[in-house]
Amino acid sequence: MSVFSEETIARLDELISRYPTKKAALLPALWVAQDVGGGVLNPDAMEAVASHLELPPAEVQGVATFYTMYNKVPRGKFAIEICHNVPCMAFGAEELIAHCEHSLGISAGETTPDGHITLARVECLGACCNAPAVQIGSKYYENVSAEHIDALIVQIKSLPDNPDHTPQGLISETASF
Ligand code: FES
Repeated sequence: MSVFSEETIARLDELISRYPTKKAALLPALWVAQDVGGGVLNPDAMEAVASHLELPPAEVQGVATFYTMYNKVPRGKFAIEICHNVPCMAFGAEELIAHCEHSLGISAGETTPDGHITLARVECLGACCNAPAVQIGSKYYENVSAEHIDALIVQIKSLPDNPDHTPQGLISETASF
């Protein structure tokens, strides 16, 4: 029996109908699975996606673990994702990550004790020309300095808990940087 509800199955089927093959719907299907999983893509959900898309579980797991946009462990309400690939590294990403670690009192990959903010290293965000790049929720920040990130952290900390916020955060609707 699938771990997905009938409603989720319907969402998956609607997605699949938009693609020429079931396999082509894998990335958005994983996104749905993560969404209904409260922002976490757990092994059972990966297995259920594999079953529904008639794909080998190992293939689905390989895709899910390749992309940093799929959360294998719970995250905080907001995630500060800093690209650490070469162009961003050359323009200060490592220093920016170290700065955030110091400001938040956690290491990259961890979540603040209050569960509010996760700091994550991610692969190329496709904004290499304006490195270093940071993503918070669905919003990109480019040419990010320590001062910018400090201001963002202050803003994020001031946002109230809201059950409607996804683990990816809704900072994109409120940020003004
Ligand atoms: S390398 Fe950082 S956005 Fe591409």
